[in-house]
Amino acid sequence: MNKTKAYGATSAKSPLSPTTITRRDPTENDVQIEILFCGMCHSDLHQVRNEWSDVMPTVYPCVPGHEIVGRVTKVGSAVTKFQAGDLAAVGCLVDSDRTCPECQAGLEQFCPNPTLTYNFPDKHLGGVTYGGYSESVVVDERFVLRVPSNLDLAGAAPLLCAGITTYSPMRHWCISKGKKVGVVGLGGLGHMAVKFADALGAHVVVFTTSPNKKDDALRLGADEVVVSRNANEMQKHAGSFDFILDAVSADHDINAYINLLRRDGNITLVGAPEKPLQVAAFALLFGRRSLSGSPIGGLPETQEMLDFCGAHNITADVEVIPIQKTNEAYERLLRQDVKYRFSIDMASLKSE
Ligand SMILES: NC(=O)c1ccc[n+]([C@@H]2O[C@H](COP(=O)([O-])OP(=O)(O)OC[C@H]3O[C@@H](n4cnc5c(N)ncnc54)[C@H](OP(=O)(O)O)[C@@H]3O)[C@@H](O)[C@H]2O)c1
Ligand SMILES: [Zn+2]
Ligand SMILES: [Zn+2]
Repeated sequence: MNKTKAYGATSAKSPLSPTTITRRDPTENDVQIEILFCGMCHSDLHQVRNEWSDVMPTVYPCVPGHEIVGRVTKVGSAVTKFQAGDLAAVGCLVDSDRTCPECQAGLEQFCPNPTLTYNFPDKHLGGVTYGGYSESVVVDERFVLRVPSNLDLAGAAPLLCAGITTYSPMRHWCISKGKKVGVVGLGGLGHMAVKFADALGAHVVVFTTSPNKKDDALRLGADEVVVSRNANEMQKHAGSFDFILDAVSADHDINAYINLLRRDGNITLVGAPEKPLQVAAFALLFGRRSLSGSPIGGLPETQEMLDFCGAHNITADVEVIPIQKTNEAYERLLRQDVKYRFSIDMASLKSE
């Protein structure tokens, strides 16, 4: 067993602070990874503050982080895909039952018995799993991904959650040239959605509450930007979208977006606000529109997404921060002041 430096919270009300956790010695199928960068997902904040208490109550201490890239330091005797020195990545899943139909189809995100990267029962050590705000992690190789060598590592880390969570529904809904795609909320997920929709050839419209993000949205690949508080601008797009991805982290009026869908159009929720959203029945009935959700992605599709990013040179736009700035960064997330993902340089943890 290895003692590992980490950053975690001891209650919903306490800030994150330095702590020490235990990692297992690698078993025969395990890969031990020194973490170089960990992206900061809004889910980390929701979980640390126990905002999902009805669905996934937080167990403290909570060490978040599920956008992990690093270097392999050791592998178990049966590991075939990795060796010491390789780059490697870990996302939101570190295990599953591997036997259910979903796992057999490579759709581990739908497994009824998953092990998420943090705050889930740890099969090896008991207690709960601890995430990537730490020096190292030990993960079964089936749940470890390869990072294309051309990608900047700080910008690659957010692909492991923000990337796959936006890529997967776009593949499912067959986004391609000729489709009109809306992206609601230009944060970590939203800005990746813009990059993917653009790379897939769609006509991309960003909906933002932040007028100061307009130029960035265009630079990231949007064809049009709508400030969603402006009803006239919204109305111009009524009934015109094939697909809208809603990546908003807080309560908002989803009906305003459902009304922008064309017949049989779909809006997929990836944002996970604390409170239920109100859906107007008529917004869906007229036009036979549909509302769906989508969680992260399975291992094969996550690798496909990373390879797609390698081929198209896509990474997240990141602000690299030391781990000591985590609490400040959480406050900035809540003020919508992130361009467009914080990526924690884990070298900063060594001085703790
Ligand atoms: N489905 C999944 O598997 C999955 C995976 C990862 C994350 N998530 C969830 O997805 C959500 C977004 O995560 P993220 O990391 O991208 O967060 P983020 O970087 O904080 O971005 C959220 C964006 O939502 C918009 N927004 C925030 N508050 C708003 C409000 N009150 N009204 C309208 N718009 C608002 C802002 O965009 P503008 O400034 O452009 O308006 C903000 O930048 C979170 O709830 C997170 O937990 C889900
Ligand atoms: Zn996430
Ligand atoms: Zn399963």
